[in-house]
Amino acid sequence: MNRVLKGKNILIGVCGGIAAYKVCDLASRLKKRDMNIDIIMTEASANFINPLTFQSLTSNKVIMNMFETSYDNEIQHIYLAKKADIVLIAPATANIIGKIAAGIADDMLTTTIMATKAPIVIAPAMNSNMYENSILQENISKLKKRGYVFIEPVEGRLACGDTGRGKMAEPVYIENYIESFFAASADLKGKKVIVTAGPTQEAIDPVRFITNHSTGKMGYAIAQKAALRGAYVDLISGPTVLAPPLGVNTINVISAEEMYKKIMELYDKADIVIKGAAVADYAPFNTTEQKIKKDEGNLTIELKKNPDILYELGKNKENKILVGFAMETQNLIENAKEKVAKKNLDFIVANDLKIEGAGFATDTNIVKLIFKDGSIESIPKMSKLDLADIILDRVVSILN
Ligand code: CTP
Repeated sequence: MNRVLKGKNILIGVCGGIAAYKVCDLASRLKKRDMNIDIIMTEASANFINPLTFQSLTSNKVIMNMFETSYDNEIQHIYLAKKADIVLIAPATANIIGKIAAGIADDMLTTTIMATKAPIVIAPAMNSNMYENSILQENISKLKKRGYVFIEPVEGRLACGDTGRGKMAEPVYIENYIESFFAASADLKGKKVIVTAGPTQEAIDPVRFITNHSTGKMGYAIAQKAALRGAYVDLISGPTVLAPPLGVNTINVISAEEMYKKIMELYDKADIVIKGAAVADYAPFNTTEQKIKKDEGNLTIELKKNPDILYELGKNKENKILVGFAMETQNLIENAKEKVAKKNLDFIVANDLKIEGAGFATDTNIVKLIFKDGSIESIPKMSKLDLADIILDRVVSILN
């Protein structure tokens, strides 16, 4: 198992908390696994640990000051941000979490965090009242929605004498977490993945459009997980209120026609396409330039058929993997099987909108995976993030 971490670059941001002493143990453990460890210390952390301790444990220079020159004239925070395969902030104080959530970059650690494209893992440690403070909790959920990963603190006796949740996770736990991150992330490395998500909007006039209830949550979860597993991900998204996932190239489109054009530009180079978007099948024949004014009788809007994007992709599938979604309200299996054949898919993720806990806007889903050989796998109710991993596991099995 040593190979999993060997040669990987971890950047650890150490903040001012007594749990900083535990990060010395963690650094020593990771060094024994042959990781390359860079350490940025905040000024406050130097009140708890001498930089020389980390320097001796990692055999690397410890960085504290933004304006020190080093690394052959490289700009340090950019250099470290690019070099890292993963960034860990431990112990993470309420202060650093607040700064990241607010987009503040005023020292070596926060500028590096702002500049990195690597996954960021945060291990908080603080007094339990501070941890439960609703402002901190709001900051944590804001960051989670953007793809930052949190290693929850545990309950126990805290340095201040209180007992409660706030102790930083043990070094061995964090070491295992980092190992499982790299073990899992390897399986889509080098693959180009296109994910589509959200609804499309088809304009009637400058103020009205036709759309559906899709929120994009499922597609965004897949894009985020694929990036964590090492893929290069283009996420083509219809209008949603979701934050773009970390480490994903998000391209915003409005209409089915635009989504079609964008995906066709990228399709050639893709290895895997996962078509989570709820594409509008029809669009108004004409979009009027001016707002349609109310008149006496009824209004009829003539609709034209939009391109069936997935069908078009299926015609030139070659050895790409194509995954579709099917939203049904009746005859789930028959309809979904028909779509697999017609659109030339490897499998389809089918859900019945009438079942509670499945479908649009929820954080969970209940689906059946229907494969091109006719086999069916029933997946129980679970979070869209967990389901994203199962869908990607099946993609990886087909790849292999
Ligand atoms: N899809 C697409 N382009 C369309 C319609 C659908 O690419 N114009 C894709 C969706 O992204 C999804 C799959 O096709 O992955 C199935 O979508 P769905 O709406 O369930 O099926 P339709 O083919 O539109 O058929 P129907 O609406 O009759 O169920």
